[in-house]
Amino acid sequence: MAGSPWRKKPISAFEADMKKNELKRVLTRWGLTSLGIGAIIGGGIFTLTGIAAHDHAGPALALAFVIAGVGCLFASLCYAEFSAVLPVEGSAYAYSYGTVGELFAWLIGWNLILEYMMGATTVAVAWSGYFEKLLHQMGIHPPIWLMNDPITAAEKTRLAIEAAEKSGNTEVVSQLMNQPSIAFNLPAFLITWVVTSILVRGIKEAAKTNNLIVILKVAVVLFVIIVGFFFIDTNNWTPFIPDQIVNLDGSTQFGWSGVITAATIVFFAYIGFDAVSTQAGEAINPKKDVPFAIIASLVICTVLYILVSLVLTGMVPYGELDMKAPVASAFEGVGMPWATTLITVAAVAGLMSVMLVMMLGQTRIFLGMAKDGLLPYKIFGKVHPKFKTPFRSTVIVGFVISIVASLTPIDKVSEMCSMGTLLAFAMISGAVLVLRYKQPDLERPFRVPYLPVVSFLGVGFNVFLMCYVRPETWVAFLCWSALGVIVYFTYSRRNSKLNEWEFEQSLKGHDSTLNASEEQE
Ligand code: ALA
Repeated sequence: MAGSPWRKKPISAFEADMKKNELKRVLTRWGLTSLGIGAIIGGGIFTLTGIAAHDHAGPALALAFVIAGVGCLFASLCYAEFSAVLPVEGSAYAYSYGTVGELFAWLIGWNLILEYMMGATTVAVAWSGYFEKLLHQMGIHPPIWLMNDPITAAEKTRLAIEAAEKSGNTEVVSQLMNQPSIAFNLPAFLITWVVTSILVRGIKEAAKTNNLIVILKVAVVLFVIIVGFFFIDTNNWTPFIPDQIVNLDGSTQFGWSGVITAATIVFFAYIGFDAVSTQAGEAINPKKDVPFAIIASLVICTVLYILVSLVLTGMVPYGELDMKAPVASAFEGVGMPWATTLITVAAVAGLMSVMLVMMLGQTRIFLGMAKDGLLPYKIFGKVHPKFKTPFRSTVIVGFVISIVASLTPIDKVSEMCSMGTLLAFAMISGAVLVLRYKQPDLERPFRVPYLPVVSFLGVGFNVFLMCYVRPETWVAFLCWSALGVIVYFTYSRRNSKLNEWEFEQSLKGHDSTLNASEEQE
């Protein structure tokens, strides 16, 4: 028997689930914060700052980071309140289940796959790109077919042949022509399995690896800020917001509209703080530490990001920032080309920890959904007796990511990752208000200040950014959601644990009616 798709999971059922937690509780307040930073600082700051400053915001790049950071702060406060009330691993999925209803919760969980799994897949491809750059800096030039998916490899080979023909280098042309016809992004494949094996071995191992990487990448970011500070020429900041230019195609850049567009671009750099909420089942003191870590990791990264953008746009005129490697180009611009290697190392390490936390988050969300019966428990819910991790789910997630990352040009659809995230952020910002009004007496170790204002701003900001996403991405997103609805009605609704729960409640109700009538007789 399948129940209503609008039914909500009672808070008492969440509490019963929390008591049955099989995961290892080892994460401290700062361990959780480090996981947040591990997920946030990645390719975004090292790459997107280039295009955002060069084409859209100019020196006001820092303002774009402030806008995106404040927007994320609204959502992070709402996540923090939810994680204090419901410290379960399902994150936004679970919070929606308790407030908005099963079908919505399922759709949020389904779309979180875009944020976490597709996010990790695009990051695996980006990692491979940075790794290749590092190899080039060391004088190693691996073949195109071993470093790219088939479509990208064909395109790169075509361009390389054209370039070699132009320069009359017949040897290179014949080498390229004789390349194997298959192609495979080997680094993306391998890094995914390295991360998967760390995740299977246990949360302690994952947290330790993440801590090391976070120390390295924060050190490099601090290096950029401190050393870059001495090269700032304040003339480069004037005008801070360059005048608006209307392009031939009618589009505009710079001015406030340019700053807003830049904010939508750099939003990607903030994705990840919400992953902390998926670690509630492994936190020692989840009700207090998870909200702390969500907000602390976001605030720390926001401050770092604003400082980095001020330094970069102060070091060189924004028009001279390289669109693909802005941080490295700023240091080259002031005569420190060796910093490029340092930044590439930080990006390689940084992206690995983003993958680690994203994949960790994905398996924990699946675990939450499997416990509720919306996904098969044997596959997504079974916890390893020794490692205390959802090992089958971790291996499946690793397998899918490694195949997709090595065989498809997935980086082209990274916007889907932002789309899934924006939807979850908007939903959670609204749902926190629903829960406040519906269950005002729940114990809330953390409360969002200035509600409902923060809630409205959170919804407004994220929906606004969703409107900026390209129409093609909307179409793909709607197709993905439609597939989710089909899976819900064919599998999840029928297998939902709430069916049993509702059945038990109806029996109890039946019993109490019987008892009452017996007593009357
Ligand atoms: N925030 C993460 C990054 O910038 C996703 O790579």
